[in-house]
Amino acid sequence: MPDCRIAPSLLSADFARLGDEVRSVVAAGADLIHFDVMDNHYVPNLSIGPLVCEAIRPHATVPIDVHLMVKPVDRIVPDFARAGAAIISFHPEASEHVDRTIGLIHDCGCKAGLVFNPATPLDWLDHVIDRLDLVLIMSVNPGFGGQSFIPQALPKLEAARARIDAASRRTGRRILLEIDGGVKIDNIAAIARAGADTFVAGSAIFGTPDYAATIARMRAELAAARGAS
Ligand code: DX5
Ligand code: ZN
Repeated sequence: MPDCRIAPSLLSADFARLGDEVRSVVAAGADLIHFDVMDNHYVPNLSIGPLVCEAIRPHATVPIDVHLMVKPVDRIVPDFARAGAAIISFHPEASEHVDRTIGLIHDCGCKAGLVFNPATPLDWLDHVIDRLDLVLIMSVNPGFGGQSFIPQALPKLEAARARIDAASRRTGRRILLEIDGGVKIDNIAAIARAGADTFVAGSAIFGTPDYAATIARMRAELAAARGAS
């Protein structure tokens, strides 16, 4: 996988043509497919589940990055593993036993991520960072695509980056730092400079006519941000 990953969020895709949309965005250079699962309980919206994940799987020749916004978490984890998820991330507030849920995701053969809402402190990492494969910082409140980036996510990314680097030095393990919400061509460089290496973008990609051109412009911004650092 490249150093910086672009993960288009299917939430903003055309649901009537989901297989085509997945193939198009992969052909356009997506590194991951971000798959948002909303339950109208943990978040006030309802989206897609394991049956849809299984249906897009043959079209997704890159890993499927499942973002669970559901409560409870554990019941649905094995279903997504069977449906082809490579990474499964969840919100600590939605699980009764965060450490147990991480273990369950690993037992199902997937990589595990923990997601931090704008008001969720990073302190959860004190106890579980050595078992995580991905940390996801929300730069919007979860539930909807097309919201504006919350700037307080930038210092939070910096703090998460410091924790991840310290953990990686200690254990040699790789942990991805993902950002989700309001990522656009014009803010992706600042987000990268704050420490993110994996970038979810829904409306910024699917809202444009030429996915490849949009992803290429994002990569150019990322390359410039790297060059400047
Ligand atoms: C929000 C979802 C996001 C969303 C991002 O709850 O987790 O993945 O689709 O959409 P944009 O990029 O439009 O903010
Ligand atoms: Zn998401």
